[in-house]
Amino acid sequence: MLTFVFLETALELIPKEISKHPAVVKDARRRKKNPSKIILDDSKHHPAMKKIKDRKKRGRPDIIHYCLLSLLDSKINEMEIFVHTVNNNIIWINRKTRLPRNYNRFVGLMEDLFDKRVIKAENEILMEIKDIPISSLISSFSNKNIVLMIESGDKDEKHLRNLMKEDPVICIGCFPHGNFSNDILQLMNDVNADFVSLGDKPLTSLYVTNRVVCLYENARVQTY
Ligand SMILES: C[S@@+](CC[C@H](N)C(=O)[O-])C[C@H]1O[C@@H](n2cnc3c(N)ncnc32)[C@H](O)[C@@H]1O
Repeated sequence: MLTFVFLETALELIPKEISKHPAVVKDARRRKKNPSKIILDDSKHHPAMKKIKDRKKRGRPDIIHYCLLSLLDSKINEMEIFVHTVNNNIIWINRKTRLPRNYNRFVGLMEDLFDKRVIKAENEILMEIKDIPISSLISSFSNKNIVLMIESGDKDEKHLRNLMKEDPVICIGCFPHGNFSNDILQLMNDVNADFVSLGDKPLTSLYVTNRVVCLYENARVQTY
C-alpha cells in the first residue's frame, strides 16, 4: 500500500498570541465563531500573522486542501494518508473520505476536526487526530522505503519510478515557503530516507503530489 505523509502542513487553529488581534476578531465575528476555534489563514489574518514565529511557513490551509483532493481523486485505491501539521498534530485521513471541494467548507471541516478530534460518517471514521509524534509515525514505516521529496535531493525521478513497485512512503512538504525544519531533516536522515529531487527548481506541493500519483498509476494501476 502506498503511503503519503504531508510534512509541516500549514494547517492550524489561530495561535493564542494573536486571538485578540482585530483582523482575527473581525473574521471570527463574521463567521459567528470563537477566535481560538478558527483556522489560521494568511489571506484573512495577514496583519495579525506579522507577530508570529515562522510566519512564512504558516496559515496556508489551501495547500493541503489541493493535495488531498488530488490524492482522493486518483485511481490509487490502496493508500494511507497522514497529515503532519506545523504544530506536530498527526491527522489520519480515510481513503474513502469525500472531501468538500469548496475551500470554505474544507476549512469548516478542519475546524470541526480540531474541535472534536475525530470526524465520523455512518459510524466510520473519516479523519482523526492521532496522539503520536511524527518520529514514531515515521519509525513505524521502518520496513518500507521512505522517500523525502526535496529540491536538493541526491536521487532522481527514475529512482522514484523504480521504488513504486515496492509501495514506498512518500513525504512531501506542505507549507508555503522555505525548507523543512532541522528536526524533520534529522528524522529523515535517522531513518535513512531517500532524498528525491524532481529537478533543481522549487515546485509546488500540488505538482509534486500529482507527479507521484502519475508515477504510481503508470506503474501499478490498470486504467482500462
Ligand atoms: C515547500 S513546499 C512549497 C509549496 C508551494 N509554495 C505551494 O504553494 O505548494 C513544496 C514541497 O514540494 C516538494 N518539492 C518542491 N520542489 C521540489 C523539487 N524540485 N523536487 C522534489 N520535491 C520538491 C518538497 O517536499 C517541498 O517541501
